[in-house]
This record gives sequence, structure tokens and C-alpha cells, in this order.
Amino acid sequence: MARRASALLLAAWAAAGLHPLPSIPAMPSAGPADVRCGAVRCGAAAEVIQQHLGCSEEEALRAEARLNGRSLRPHRCAEVCEGLQLRLRLSAAQLRKVALTQPAILSLDFTVNLEPALTRLQQRIGLTDAELARVIVRLPAVLGYNFESNLSPKLDALQTRIGASTEELKSIVLSQPSVLGLSLERNIAPKLDFFQDEFSLTTEELRRYILKMPALLTYSLKNRYKPRLARCLKAGAPMEIVLDRISYTDTKFNASVPVDSGAWTIFV
Ligand SMILES: *[C@@H]1O[C@H](CO)[C@@H](O)[C@H](O)[C@H]1NC(C)=O
Repeated sequence: MARRASALLLAAWAAAGLHPLPSIPAMPSAGPADVRCGAVRCGAAAEVIQQHLGCSEEEALRAEARLNGRSLRPHRCAEVCEGLQLRLRLSAAQLRKVALTQPAILSLDFTVNLEPALTRLQQRIGLTDAELARVIVRLPAVLGYNFESNLSPKLDALQTRIGASTEELKSIVLSQPSVLGLSLERNIAPKLDFFQDEFSLTTEELRRYILKMPALLTYSLKNRYKPRLARCLKAGAPMEIVLDRISYTDTKFNASVPVDSGAWTIFV
């Protein structure tokens, strides 16, 4: 509708002998997505995205906004889409999810940047093609991580820190791909230190906890572990409850650890 309007406008200008400047957007102005277009013509990348992924115009504009002004070349975009689809056997819907979540990958060289990183991750923890695809679809951001400088040291450190086998490391990644997106220094390491310090876990106990519940690695130290530990201490409840009930919502957790009733002192 709006696209037609701008075509009509161009026709009107042409009829009036006016030549619109090349900077005039070909796509309709469509709200917040346009604000971040920067120097690049608004809608140019969105058009490429829409053509190659068969998504809606709105989805394409949103993806374009996430490119922060980076432009897309249609042939590169086509290579990445085709490469990912062949390598990971993605359905059209999965490819769309991956590319729209992580549109910057559409500007990469598939053979040089993406394929080798996929293969290294796959080999590092022994993923089958289908398992690799599962990880990427769950966390498309993995495609944007450098293997050598990011994933490899992270996996090495986690494996060493909890004394896990490669098979066990793989089960953690498959269960919680988001672990790959956590910072080693700012997130994973402080959390493991916290577990060991506060709950007095040996490395072996730490390993068993993490393998039983890989999601333990993903909850927030500041917003989840620390306030809950404080509540347990106040209630006189066993601290391990914090780990065992980490998946509870705050409301359910609070209800399960009453602070005022003195209930815990009866049982402890
Ligand atoms: C749970 O309890 C903590 C204090 O122990 C409190 O700060 C927090 O707001 C409570 N959350 C809910 C959802 O009840």
C-alpha cells in the first residue's frame, strides 16, 4: 500500500519533470526500524532479506534495523542462506529464524567465515550434523562467535573447571546452548566460584550438579542465586535448596521457603 503510494509519487514527479534524488527511500517509512538506518538507504537491506528469506516486510525491516547500517549484498546473502541450509539441513522456517535473529551473518562469506567455525565447534564436542543444527537453531548467535577467540577457550575452561569429559561437555551444550553465549570471565567463572564457595562443593560434586542440571549455569547470580541464598539463610533452610529449586519462579520459591513462620527450625 505505502510502497504503491511512493511509486505513484515518483510517477507524479517524473510527470512534473522532477528527478528525485537517489537518496529518496524506495521503501515506505515504517516507524522505528527506519531510525537506525544510518548512512545506508533505508529498506535496501530489508529488500534483500525479504527476497532471500520469504519473510514479511515488517520482519525484514526489523532485521535490517539490527544490522546497524551494515549493507547486504544479494549474492553473499544467497550464498549464506544456501550454505547454511545445505550444511545444517535447515527447513525454510528454521533458516528464517536463524537469519532474522542474526542478520549480520548474511553479510559474511559462508566458506571463509561460517563453514570452518561450524565444523570446529562440531568437532570440538563431537556433535552430529543434526545436533549442530539443533544448537544453531536454538542459539543463532553462535554463528556470530569466533571459535578460536571465544568458543574454544570457553569450552576448554568449562570442561577443565568442572572436570567433565568431552561427552559430558556436549550434553551440557545440547541441553543449554545458551551457555555458549555466556561470558566466561563475567558469568560462568564467577558462578562456578560462587557454587563452590557458598555450597562447599568439591569439583566432583560441582560436576555432578551441572551435569544433572545444566540450566544451573544460565540463571543470574545477582538476581536469582544471591537473593535466594540470603532467604535460605534467613529462614534457616538448607542452602542446597537454592540449587535444587532453581527452576522455581520467585513466587513459588518464596512460598516454599517461609521466612517468618519458623517452619524450618522444626525440621532442621
Ligand atoms: C521473594 O523474597 C525476597 C526476599 O527474600 C523478596 O525480595 C522478593 O521480592 C520476593 N519475591 C516474590 C516474587 O515474592
